[in-house]
Amino acid sequence: MEKFIIDGGNPLKGEVSLCGAKNSGFKLLIAALYSNEPSTLHNFSKIGDVLTTAAVIKELGGQVSFGENHVLQVSGKNLTKQNLSQESGQLSRASTYFVGPLIHRFGKAVIPNPGGCQIGRRPIDRHLEGLKALGAQIKEFPDHYEILAKRLKGGYFAFPKNTHGGTDIMIISAACAEGKTILENVAQEPEVDDLIAFLNQMGGKVSRVEPRTIVVRGVDELKPADYTVMYDRNEAVTFACAALATKGDVFVLHAEEKYLGAFLEAVRKVGGGYQIDRRGIRFYYQGQLRATDIVTQPYPGFMTDWMGLWSILMTQAKGESIVHETVFENRFAFVNELKKMEAKIELFNPRVDNPEAIYNFNLEDDQPQYFHAARIIGPTELEATTEEITDVRAGASLILASLIAKGKSELLGVEHVERGYENLDGRLRLLGAKIARKKL
Ligand code: EPU
Repeated sequence: MEKFIIDGGNPLKGEVSLCGAKNSGFKLLIAALYSNEPSTLHNFSKIGDVLTTAAVIKELGGQVSFGENHVLQVSGKNLTKQNLSQESGQLSRASTYFVGPLIHRFGKAVIPNPGGCQIGRRPIDRHLEGLKALGAQIKEFPDHYEILAKRLKGGYFAFPKNTHGGTDIMIISAACAEGKTILENVAQEPEVDDLIAFLNQMGGKVSRVEPRTIVVRGVDELKPADYTVMYDRNEAVTFACAALATKGDVFVLHAEEKYLGAFLEAVRKVGGGYQIDRRGIRFYYQGQLRATDIVTQPYPGFMTDWMGLWSILMTQAKGESIVHETVFENRFAFVNELKKMEAKIELFNPRVDNPEAIYNFNLEDDQPQYFHAARIIGPTELEATTEEITDVRAGASLILASLIAKGKSELLGVEHVERGYENLDGRLRLLGAKIARKKL
């Protein structure tokens, strides 16, 4: 176990390159299991979520080998097990992603309840209903599900509410189903399209025919592919917020305007500077930031994954900002830590006229102790302190807070950050951050 020690107050300056997208890489690994021959994936981040997925694949008998320069190979050859262990379910959200390839091979998949970040209950009801529409029979046990089908059959499914993971799982599962599947009210996240492009390169027939409708024509088998994972847009926002909050100037290589629309609009409103060119986007401080409200939404809205970083940025903006989280029901764990740093931030529940339409989580998963919005007053000089990281984005947010704060902060829970960012501390150091690691 390690901790970060951060001496804050340095403006970040220079150029930083993005890594492969956390929320794409792991699912391509799983989709590749349809083939017995190795697929080659480029631009892979060596992060906890990928290593965990690779470990689950190996546990099932599949093969994953990491090469140099972020290239890896994966194949479903020797996949002999259809049961994911309980332990793998605790470690990763990915268990339902395995259903398609396992059913294709064995007619059966046994999956534990998925784990992942502690940002809400994160049920999989929408995944399971979707799989039933493809003819899967689902037996529910206290800690796992048995999912059975000789072969999945094409069908029609309309998601009751947006789900990024649910959309992925249905696409992967329908890829080798018998016949055509029509999916409606699907997620529009770019990482879903990365998956579609990969499956099509494997010989799949998947197309987004309308922004929120995907048609999958099932094929009998998929072949290996050579594919480059998209760059991580959440990392782009992490470095952009770090540049603006530390009054710095950072060129983010490979950041793409088309994936960052809602963020760039917010940066414009807050008074931050940015310049787009064909290699990436430069973000720079150009004077006192202005308080700016955001409401998180599924893509193409302002991403929930950016909410914590934005909250930190708003501690440096003049006036009162409101940050309203609508995707996950409990994503403000970092606020207690931020309060210890003397941030002026209060949680509250805003009046919402039609919660069923506004909130992406199931309303029955909400609890009286959860808050869905934060009121932040700035600018505030943050004080260094010891902070506890509880999930990947909260971790990046608290690193950012410590980079702004006066004095030395200590951050426990480095492993949470490493689930989603490769060498974040090293890359921040190259931009001039004083951040070190120490064994606990
Ligand atoms: N939901 C349900 N039932 C379901 C599925 C989802 O109630 O069957 C709820 C969730 O609990 C949540 C909301 O619907 O409140 C949206 O969930 P969604 O399925 O869209 O999210 P996800 O697939 O679990 C992925 C990313 C998240 C990212 C969201 C939104 C991965 C591994 N995770 O989660 O990333 O925030 O999509 O784009 O791809 C992160 O990177 O830190 C992270 C949490």
